[in-house]
Formats: sequence, C-alpha cells, structure tokens
Amino acid sequence: MEIIKQVHAIRERVQALRCSGKTIGLVPTMGALHQGHLQLLKASAQENDITVCSIFVNPTQFNNPDDYKLYPRTLGEDTALLEQVSCNILFAPDPEEVYPQQHTLLQFSFGALEAVMEGAHRPGHFNGVATIVSKLFHLVQPHRAYFGQKDLQQVAIVRQLVQSLSFDVKLVCFPTVREEDGLAMSSRNKRLDAAQRRAAPHLYMALKKAEAQLQQRPVAAIKAGVAAYLGQVGGVELEYFEVADPATLQPVADVRGVREVALCLAAVVGPVRLIDNILVNLNG
Ligand code: PAF
Repeated sequence: MEIIKQVHAIRERVQALRCSGKTIGLVPTMGALHQGHLQLLKASAQENDITVCSIFVNPTQFNNPDDYKLYPRTLGEDTALLEQVSCNILFAPDPEEVYPQQHTLLQFSFGALEAVMEGAHRPGHFNGVATIVSKLFHLVQPHRAYFGQKDLQQVAIVRQLVQSLSFDVKLVCFPTVREEDGLAMSSRNKRLDAAQRRAAPHLYMALKKAEAQLQQRPVAAIKAGVAAYLGQVGGVELEYFEVADPATLQPVADVRGVREVALCLAAVVGPVRLIDNILVNLNG
C-alpha cells in the first residue's frame, strides 16, 4: 500500500491512474477504523481497480473543540488494517496540507436538509463535511465513493453536494455494522469506559422499541416513550429522537400512509456523543 501525505502527490498519482484507465474507489474516513469501515473498503476493492482510503480528522466539521482534540487517532493500527483489506493507497494528509494558512472557509447551504437533527444540533458541522468531501472528490477524483448509513444525514448532504456541484462520482451507501449487542460501530466507541460501553447499546434498543410501536401509537407518544426509556439508563442523555422521511430527513408527524421512515437519535453517553438510526419499511 502506498502512503501519500501531500495534496500534490495524491493529485498526480490519481491522474496517472485515471489516464491508464483504472477505476478508483474512495473510502473517506477520520481513522480509528472498525469493521464498518472495513466493509466499505472491501466493497470498494471488489468494484474498482484501485481503492483509496483517506484518513483525516477534519477540524472544520467539529463544533466542539474537545471532541476534535479527543477524537481517537490510531494511524499505526489503521495502516495495518488497511494492508489486510487490499487498500492500494492511504491518503493521510496533515491539517496544514488540507487547509493552508490563508484558507477561507467555504460556505455551503443545504436548506431544509441541514435544518434538522445533526445540522440543527451541530452548527457548522455539515459545512465542514461538505468542504472536506469536496476537496477529497477534487483530489482523488473517484468513480465511486463509499459511506455508511450510520451517518444518514451526512449521506443525504453529500448526495445533494454531488448534484449541486455536478461531481462525476457514484455514491454507495452501506448499512450500519453493529456489535453483537446492537451498538452501532463508531470510532467514538473507543472512548467509552466499561460502564458507558454497557449503557451504549440502549440507544439501539430504544430505536427497536420505537420501531415495534410505530403502527400502534402516535409519533408524539413514541417520542415520549424513547425519552422515558433512555431517561432511566444511567449516564445516557438523549439529545434528540426523530421520526423522519428517509430522503428529505424532515420530521414525520403521522406515519399513516407513509411507506418508509428513518428513526434517528443522538445521545451523549458519558463524555461521548453517539448517533444511530434505523430505516423502517411500513408496508411489510
Ligand atoms: O464520516 C466521516 O468519517 C467524516 O464525516 C468524513 C466523511 C470522512 C468527512 O470528514
């Protein structure tokens, strides 16, 4: 596996690959790789000649400086894992390389899509995501780019970004990979201590309880039920729970006549903010 740290070097490398007719898959990550990332990498290796994994803890998407500072950084372990999944190129730039000193933060607007959930609770987050994803698409020029469904709103934002800026890339979204007890895999799970780790699967349990009641109870009652359920779990503080349209991510107040909804939540477990979601088909 080649390791590239410079912007000019990745640009030159992918241009040469593209000229020789190779297809390129990009798996953008912030490192601390887990099975969820590895599935994306394996899918990319199957569908493209060359797989590029980017590892960059992107400062512009963190609205909380502590979250940025404490985000797990495990480049040595990540590199070893990447070698095992046939990744061809690791692009791991330093922040100064991506954001040179005179950098002006671009301003994106995603309208209603960013007015809810993560966009509403993390001001500037999706602006930072759109900035780094645009940079990566320009630099790596992938034919396909791979994202996990755990970040459902991010996938919707990136989809809108691709349409708005006419990026010539196919987005591939993969289902969330879970631990045996249901906890969605996330790099941030590494920061949970033993008690917090035991509490964290209740987020998924809350989603499943809500799913089971969707056809029987009004949405407002389900929301209150999720808040009450998580309220009893020590060390867990619910930030939001939403029943949303999976495409627009706008709240759904009544599921009658609706074919599919996304149940989404964010909660703070100890010092760590976690998100999760499930898609529910209401026809079957
Ligand atoms: O999902 C992530 O890990 C990040 O938001 C991404 C897409 C790599 C951009 O920094």
